[in-house]
Amino acid sequence: KKSIQIAIDGPASAGKSTVAKILAKKRGFIYCDTGAMYRALTLAALENKVDLDSEKELSELLSRIVIDFKQKNDGQHVYLNQKDVTNEIRVNEVTNAVSKVSAYKTIREEMVNRQQEITSSNSIVMDGRDIGTVVLPNADLKMFLVASVEERAERRYKENLSKGIKTDFEILKKEIADRDHYDSNRKNSPLVQAQDAILVDTSGLTIQEVVQEIEKEMKTFL
Ligand code: C5P
Repeated sequence: KKSIQIAIDGPASAGKSTVAKILAKKRGFIYCDTGAMYRALTLAALENKVDLDSEKELSELLSRIVIDFKQKNDGQHVYLNQKDVTNEIRVNEVTNAVSKVSAYKTIREEMVNRQQEITSSNSIVMDGRDIGTVVLPNADLKMFLVASVEERAERRYKENLSKGIKTDFEILKKEIADRDHYDSNRKNSPLVQAQDAILVDTSGLTIQEVVQEIEKEMKTFL
């Protein structure tokens, strides 16, 4: 049986990973969070005091680290050289440095290689910024999820609150907008909607509604 590839791209906090996880679980597909891979490298760089201005040092660091995913009862965990970094990669220091790290050409080439390896022979839902354009150009389905900055900041704000973290809404909004700007304007595979991707504005939609929208599209080839 042919393996299926679903690519989900879009700006920060548009709900990509939430819907990707639900879809993967429902269909028994693998889920690959490519943002987590860039975050893991960024965490390693901060921990090892690697100069974020040095593409060469970052590349060397990447060649020495293994990033993998394991499915656990409470969801997918991310490992950096066997250490569980699932929560650590979400801290602010990492979030605010990751766009810089992910902009380097050699870093992206290596990450794309690793992502394509995960894909071979497995049905997969993969989310990120360049999945439909670069990583899986022949994906069976490409979705591009967007939402207003206001709405995305609000979701993030509530998510933080539920974890007991109180954040400044305006700062959150600025951080999201800045990251989008950086990711969309970098030279190497910037965040852009693939020509054959289906655009969904998730502003005002529930998670279930977004999942339904994607499943509707899946019916056309499954
Ligand atoms: O998806 P997430 O917000 O965790 O991604 C973190 C960062 O990693 C993005 O802001 C972007 O800089 C980078 N990224 C990327 N390409 C991907 C996934 C993430 O450049 N495919």
